[in-house]
Amino acid sequence: MIQLNHVYKTFFKGKDTEVHALDDVTMTVKDGDFVTITGPSGSGKSTLMRVVEGMECADQGNCILNGIDLAKSSDKKRAEIRNQKMGIVLQDFGLFNDQTVKQNLQLPFLIAKRSIKSANIRAQEILEYLHIAELTNRKVQTLSGGQKQRVAIARGLMMDANLILADEPTGALDHKATEQLIFLLKKLNKEGKTIVVVTHDMEMARSGTKQFYMEDGKIFPL
Ligand SMILES: Nc1ncnc2c1ncn2[C@@H]1O[C@H](COP(=O)(O)OP(=O)(O)OP(=O)(O)O)[C@@H](O)[C@H]1O
Ligand SMILES: [Mg+2]
Repeated sequence: MIQLNHVYKTFFKGKDTEVHALDDVTMTVKDGDFVTITGPSGSGKSTLMRVVEGMECADQGNCILNGIDLAKSSDKKRAEIRNQKMGIVLQDFGLFNDQTVKQNLQLPFLIAKRSIKSANIRAQEILEYLHIAELTNRKVQTLSGGQKQRVAIARGLMMDANLILADEPTGALDHKATEQLIFLLKKLNKEGKTIVVVTHDMEMARSGTKQFYMEDGKIFPL
């Protein structure tokens, strides 16, 4: 479960311009929820995700993940929680382009100091689950946007974390690929994963079991 309590985050642009990226955000994500967050560019969606991921600390308020306040944890603990408890899918995929799909998928296991052999077994399983086993040995730079998207999700699933956090996963996808991704996220949610997804796509936004809208750092039910 994720609980954000009155979270504020202000950035300063130049000497006297303040941006209230998060302005009194309170929200609860329960285990098994499929949360969607939409809203205009600059409304604070990515900032909110980074607070949940423990990549950014709130100025005021807190974010509690399964009883743990990430802002009060050590860097090492935060990294460990991100590696083991969260499947994070980034907007620009965050893949290593000059490496193969398999090498990219090994990474979370290497961070967790687990064997390459076990990583390869798991990678094979996940790639088959996502119907992209034929991409295993391809270099990421040779893949289409939709294929990279699936690989990014595959990497997010490697550690079998219960929480999937995805920021604009449909950014580079056409309509058909977006529909497939919605189908996949719904399926993962039915299988028990908790999902938080930021999206500009209204069809995806409407697919959530809990739907939010952000504007000027504030969050509202959609
Ligand atoms: N590290 C930073 N330094 C300064 N300003 C920042 C920083 N991160 C975010 N901001 C500002 O905070 C506001 C919210 O940004 P954020 O990236 O959370 O928006 P967003 O809703 O994700 O937008 P988009 O839909 O374009 O991705 C914006 O005005 C942005 O310029
Ligand atoms: Mg963003």
